[in-house]
Amino acid sequence: MLSTLWPVTRPLLFQLDAEKAHELTMSMLEYAPGLLASTARLGRGHPHPKLATTVAGLQLRSPVGLAAGLDKDGRAIRFWPSLGFGFVEIGTVTAHPQPGNPRPRLFRLVNEHALINRMGFNNGGSEALAQRLRALRERDLWPDVPVGVNIGKSKVTPLDEAPADYALSARRLQGVADYFTVNVSSPNTPGLRDLQDRAALASLLPAVMAEVRDTPVFLKLAPDLSEDAIHTAVELARMEGLHGIIASNTTIRRDVLRTDPNEAGGLSGRPIKDVAAQCIDHTLRAAAGRIPVIGVGGVEDADDVQRLLDAGCAAVQLYTALIYQGPGLIQRINHDLAGRQ
Ligand SMILES: Cc1cc2nc3c(=O)[nH]c(=O)nc-3n(C[C@H](O)[C@H](O)[C@H](O)COP(=O)(O)O)c2cc1C
Repeated sequence: MLSTLWPVTRPLLFQLDAEKAHELTMSMLEYAPGLLASTARLGRGHPHPKLATTVAGLQLRSPVGLAAGLDKDGRAIRFWPSLGFGFVEIGTVTAHPQPGNPRPRLFRLVNEHALINRMGFNNGGSEALAQRLRALRERDLWPDVPVGVNIGKSKVTPLDEAPADYALSARRLQGVADYFTVNVSSPNTPGLRDLQDRAALASLLPAVMAEVRDTPVFLKLAPDLSEDAIHTAVELARMEGLHGIIASNTTIRRDVLRTDPNEAGGLSGRPIKDVAAQCIDHTLRAAAGRIPVIGVGGVEDADDVQRLLDAGCAAVQLYTALIYQGPGLIQRINHDLAGRQ
């Protein structure tokens, strides 16, 4: 039903500034999640049982999850599963609430089915998120798919105090998040990606792990890392007892674009498919089956999902394709995947 309306809603939303369209959609999803979820589910039901899979002990109804950044403050958690997602990642949240970068900071590259963003982790902070999530659990409104929280560094926190900043968010969210993702790979917080260095990871990862009990922890990497750096990060993640790697975040590369709007930030969507695939390939090689890998970047259809699963990914995530293809996308992908198995 929601997807039937997409041919009408897409042109309306695409006439608005990208962030305004996002805010409008999120407000609707926040205030009428039950109604919109039943509308989205009409006639579809849950993904086919043969799509069910397990990653790091998490039971997923479909291998396709929502990538971080779309619902930073977990405002529409009850809605996302109705689109067919097998798991949902909210955040990035930081220990301190922060406004993010000045607007405009989100740009559509419509002809390339891509986005450039330099949001800068605008979010209400991990304490507010923990309260919202706890309230959902107490009211028995927690979704029936795993909901992970992606945590990052507050802008005001100096890089050498990053471990304590991440640890504080993990402590607040321990017991409410179904999994955590340690995000060291967004290009829009100055210095954040330096945390992917061996020395920085060696102090950051144990600080987070010390706060977490009985909850899987994933590490999210940038696609712009060298193969050596990916090997180092995967090795450290394994040694510190993390449960998975998410590869990858947005890229700062522009050579994959046909047109360059000359805006700083992270590029996502169709043009990063090959960049992400290469990063995922390096990650899978470094992981060598010893730690699960979740593939992200430019996933647009069941072929893309299948390719990543066949390459060895345990699951996939997407964000940008949902903006371009609308609410029916995940159910379509699930349907196509089920038809092949
Ligand atoms: C507007 C926007 C905001 C994002 N914010 C975050 C974020 O806060 N944390 C994060 O780990 N990834 C963030 N991402 C990256 C996505 O989770 C994903 O890794 C990336 O977009 C590649 O996937 P895609 O091509 O399917 O969009 C963001 C992406 C976009 C487009």
